[in-house]
Amino acid sequence: IGHRPLSGRHALVTAGPTHEPIDPVRYLANRSSGRQGFAIAGALAALGARVTLVAGPVTLPTPFGVDRIDVQTARQMAAAVATALPADVAVMVAAVADWHVAAAPQKMKKGDAPASLTLVENPDILAALSQGPDRPPLVIGFAAETERVIEHGVAKRIRKGCDWIVANDVSGDVMGGPDNSVHLVTADGVESWDNLPKEQVAARLAQRIADTL
Ligand code: C5P
Repeated sequence: IGHRPLSGRHALVTAGPTHEPIDPVRYLANRSSGRQGFAIAGALAALGARVTLVAGPVTLPTPFGVDRIDVQTARQMAAAVATALPADVAVMVAAVADWHVAAAPQKMKKGDAPASLTLVENPDILAALSQGPDRPPLVIGFAAETERVIEHGVAKRIRKGCDWIVANDVSGDVMGGPDNSVHLVTADGVESWDNLPKEQVAARLAQRIADTL
């Protein structure tokens, strides 16, 4: 206890983008850097939690005291999350691809380039965890939005079945940048943390988690 209030607790964090192969040398991705999720994993470890960080492809060092599992695709991330359970708290920060591609087994050639990619929906890791049998007592999702951020966050909390949503405005250069502006959406209301370094968003969230568990 004291300044290590999460000792004896297991925290599960996802972070980063996913890469969804198109063929053996190409993939679909997004601009997530993993910085916010890695900072949260580090902040939870600093409060004494055992932390499992399931990370998509990023170029970040593993935070001190964190167990890291690297994955590429959303389906691999879902499997790694399932394997890491049970957990006392889950923070799903990863920018998971909504779809994967019906991938070509060999590198596609210019001549036979298809007119379109066939997209297949990925599993929703946060929704499955929130509504599944091994649900951690505290499940937290993120909502990256470019408009009506709070409104979408409130709706997403209900739709996914998680306890809290951290809604962040990604209309500026948040993705990959050092700072973040977030709205913490809980059953009790909304709290806004404006323009903080991602490390400070992480420290505040970790402290809030410690106060709640
Ligand atoms: O639906 P949307 O992608 O906006 O939801 C974002 C939240 O859901 C994030 O917490 C993200 O990590 C999680 N998510 C997930 N699996 C997906 C899609 C999103 O865990 N396939």
